Amino acid sequence: MRTVRVIAEARAEIDRARSAGAGVGLVPTMGFLHAGHVSLMERAASEADFVVATIFVNPLQFGPAEDLAAYPRDLETDTARCEGAGVDLLLVPGVEEMYPGPMRTAVTVADITARFEGASRPGHFAGVATVVAKLFNIVGPCRAYFGEKDWQQLCVVRQMAADLSFAVEVVGCPTVREPDGLAMSSRNTYLGASDRAAAPVLHRALVAGAESIRSGERSARVVRDVMSEVLGSEPRAEVDYAEVVDAGTLALVDPLAGDLRLLVAARIGPARLIDNVGAVAD
Ligand code: PAJ
Repeated sequence: MRTVRVIAEARAEIDRARSAGAGVGLVPTMGFLHAGHVSLMERAASEADFVVATIFVNPLQFGPAEDLAAYPRDLETDTARCEGAGVDLLLVPGVEEMYPGPMRTAVTVADITARFEGASRPGHFAGVATVVAKLFNIVGPCRAYFGEKDWQQLCVVRQMAADLSFAVEVVGCPTVREPDGLAMSSRNTYLGASDRAAAPVLHRALVAGAESIRSGERSARVVRDVMSEVLGSEPRAEVDYAEVVDAGTLALVDPLAGDLRLLVAARIGPARLIDNVGAVAD
């Protein structure tokens, strides 16, 4: 595995691999890698001949009051994880390399960014869509792997890639969880012992909601109430939203029908956590 910090060098390596006939896989990350990230890299390695991973804590997607400066970093461990997962090229650009001057161009995605993370974190998805568009342009035609953990982000990236005709196939990969159900996240590192013990309540709420749909419940309000009740049982959880929506458009559906996604966000102590699961109402 080669690690590069310069975009032009990454481009040259990737172009070389592609002209030798390699199919390219891309896994964009912000580092502090855990088993969730590693699962994307392993999937990429199993489907592509040349795997590019990127580590870039993207300032554009953090709000002024968010955790940009505190975001955890550990390049040495990350490098070993990438190598172990079958990554061929690791691109770790500095902020100056990605944004050499003030950015006057942004990619925004309408409608599906209006609610949930888009509402709670103004500007967040423009920051994500802009940096992912840059990465797609740097890497070129590829399959790009994203986690279902960030369901709304996955929808935004898919929409952006389709709308702007990127020669990129966006691949969604299942959420990797701790044994108690907590979705793995770099931000879990912010949790002290009591908060960590409380955090699986997000997944428990989602499972209860999905189970009610499986048992025949078709009222979105009732499913929302089922989730809220579970979340309400944990005093440390400060709920932002708990909702069930159409899995593709993230629009409300009531009565529930088709492919659905249950989404929750809650602050637990110092960490703002998000999670989601799928359900089908047929
Ligand atoms: P980051 O939070 O580092 O996540 C990188 C990728 O790993 C994303 O596609 C995310 O959905 C996926 N991921 C995170 N936790 C996961 C888990 N428990 N199971 C499976 N996949 C998981 O998401 C970002 O970075 C950034 O917004 C980025 C897309 C890199 C743009 O800056």
